[in-house]
Amino acid sequence: MQNQLASMLEDAAREIAACASANDILNTKAKYLGKKSLLNSLYGKMRDLDASERPAFGNALNEARQKIEALLVDKTTAIKEESWQKASTGLDFSMPGIPNSRGAYHPLSIVRRQIDEVFLSMGFEIAEGPDIEDEFHNFDALNTPQDHPSRNLADTFYVEGGKLLRTQTSTVQIRVMEQYKPPIRIISPGRCYRNDKPDPSHSPVFHQVEALVVDKGVSMCDLTDTLQNFVSIMFGSRVRSRIRPHFFPFTEPSAEMDISCVACGGTGCRVCKQSGWLEMGGAGMVDPNVFDILGIDSELYTGFAFGLGIERIAMLKYNIPDMRILFENDLRTLNQFKGEM
Ligand code: PHE
Repeated sequence: MQNQLASMLEDAAREIAACASANDILNTKAKYLGKKSLLNSLYGKMRDLDASERPAFGNALNEARQKIEALLVDKTTAIKEESWQKASTGLDFSMPGIPNSRGAYHPLSIVRRQIDEVFLSMGFEIAEGPDIEDEFHNFDALNTPQDHPSRNLADTFYVEGGKLLRTQTSTVQIRVMEQYKPPIRIISPGRCYRNDKPDPSHSPVFHQVEALVVDKGVSMCDLTDTLQNFVSIMFGSRVRSRIRPHFFPFTEPSAEMDISCVACGGTGCRVCKQSGWLEMGGAGMVDPNVFDILGIDSELYTGFAFGLGIERIAMLKYNIPDMRILFENDLRTLNQFKGEM
């Protein structure tokens, strides 16, 4: 039996060495260690031996089994390594992968969110209104006379059914005052439309953010203070703001808002056309006529409103020389803003 065992071990070692695949390994394992293996049958023959011979023979069988198992494990590892090496021929695993291009926010979205956050931090809420409006909300309720030039086809896009594409976010002032009683403290960012030819500072589709505050005792100081707060957070505390007299049908007095030039600091340069100031939008105290149209007591309440151009702010913040860049959406340009938010 000892001889049988020795020659079986020799056979097993030879066959395991000849294994070329995981499948070969499985077959060889079954042949030498399985139920019908010689080794297994030798365990059964222990009974026929003299009691004194059994421990030594038992040990020999166990050793043989362990040897075969060890050979199988080694061979399995060798086969795996071999196939790995075969598969990797010609591949360089240290080469960098092909980068996946990652999406990013459009600069207008980035700036719009920043504006939202600044005003939210000042206690404003965000209100919305439709892009397709009626004349009441875009003109009549905003105290705009019937013969005002902005109503003209040359300025305003009209759509079917007497509707129009809103030319300003001031429409949302009206919608909010129709729905809510003062105190009111909202901003309304959104898209506006005007019949303008695209050029470096115009686009037929653009964005404004409207602000409206209505309460008892609201004054022009609240307007200038809110404006300066916004400008300081958005552009830095060194940037100053000012208002100049102007005219809008729905505010009285009306003003235009400027900020000191973010490019030169106010000394005069190409960006501010040597004036030291940049226009930011329109503003004013809500005209009592507007309150009257909406049934808000103009003896009790006062309010201020302003409208900022979002493209203007984006262009100043990111040094964009031409508004059209924001709408052409050339990825080579837009990619420069990746990671801004
Ligand atoms: N709606 C005005 C515009 O589009 C801006 C404005 C808003 C003026 C609020 C006064 C008050 O030019």
